[in-house]
Amino acid sequence: MKLFFFFLFFFLLDLYFYFGISPILSGLKGEAFYKILYWISCVFIYLGIVYFAVNVHQERHFTVHIILSSLFFIFFISKLVGCFPLILDDILRLFRFISKLFQVNNETYGVQRLEFLRKSALLVSGVLFSTLLIGIKWGRYNFKKNYQDIVINNWSKLLDNYKIIHISDLHLGSFNNVKELEIVVEMINEENPDLVVFTGDLVNNYYHEALPYVETLKKIKAKDGKYSVLGNHDYCDYVMLKRSSKEWKDNFNNLLKLQKEMGFELLLNEPRIIKKGNSHFNLVGVENWGAGNFNKDGDLDLAMNNVVDDVPTILLSHDPSHWTEQVLDSKYKIDLQLSGHTHGMQFGVELPGIKWSPAKYRYKYWAGLYRKKDKQIYVNRGLGHLGYAGRVGIMPDISILNIKSKS
Ligand SMILES: [Fe+2]
Ligand SMILES: [Fe+2]
Repeated sequence: MKLFFFFLFFFLLDLYFYFGISPILSGLKGEAFYKILYWISCVFIYLGIVYFAVNVHQERHFTVHIILSSLFFIFFISKLVGCFPLILDDILRLFRFISKLFQVNNETYGVQRLEFLRKSALLVSGVLFSTLLIGIKWGRYNFKKNYQDIVINNWSKLLDNYKIIHISDLHLGSFNNVKELEIVVEMINEENPDLVVFTGDLVNNYYHEALPYVETLKKIKAKDGKYSVLGNHDYCDYVMLKRSSKEWKDNFNNLLKLQKEMGFELLLNEPRIIKKGNSHFNLVGVENWGAGNFNKDGDLDLAMNNVVDDVPTILLSHDPSHWTEQVLDSKYKIDLQLSGHTHGMQFGVELPGIKWSPAKYRYKYWAGLYRKKDKQIYVNRGLGHLGYAGRVGIMPDISILNIKSKS
């Protein structure tokens, strides 16, 4: 039944877009060819939906088909966005129709504007489609080092310029390339970090998505250790498995084992003291806690129990909404939270003076460093991808955080 409504929605969208742009196609040489091509692309999407609906439960992950599913996504989103000028066009037409009822002279119609909006629909769709296609080819593995100085009030002078490499959201089920991950590991190791932290979403659903990458992730080196937390995708909650089932428990336990094998110490609502010479600070990790429908396994009180706040505390928490919903107004002195999860929606602009992504309409804190009161949050843009196997503008992120004392 769900599939039927999916089809109906896609078909109506295709039909609406087709009738919107067909007058433009009618004016072109080879009109029939373009119209047939349009419907062939639609049928391609319908077949794709059936294929994924049939195979999703057998395959359990989308590793092999990530590019295909991305192409479906691109076709869909380009048409959907292209519909906006058409909707505007229809609203104007409705107004014209109403005004016509009260006019004697019917020749006051602004045909030019209708034509402009129709062409806009085609142009917007075409540009978006090409851009997203380019993002698969050149954005997907275009890893970017983002350097960020972070000043913490009572950070020890002895720990000045402490280097933390922060990575997040590997989504290994769709990463699909061990060699590219080797490049990531090289980029991390050449920085000679003090600490490496991974803030969750190792896999899309199942632990075995990570198996081909264990040996590679093992090679990440950090002087004071490698620490991680879980993201919402690490709980196998999106494949309709009950948490009480043996399959779910086995999957979860195997994921924990793999993290250990990779050399990451997974913090499940617990703190650690990171010592360096005569100085130290607190590193606390919570399980995933997300606002809205996301799972709330994170337990800040449990994690902060026994944490002595005479030294700075850095919190690892996958979802930045945890900061706004719990951490900011908590009684705990948490100097800095490191999060991921937003992926910067893998689409946007980051240029000097311009920082925009659709992610900002969903998450207030979606990429980079933010400060509120005496607390700070740094949100990593993610290294992997989910859904759309590409990146436009918001590149796969290796964050190099330079922690400084206030001089
Ligand atoms: Fe993620
Ligand atoms: Fe996430």
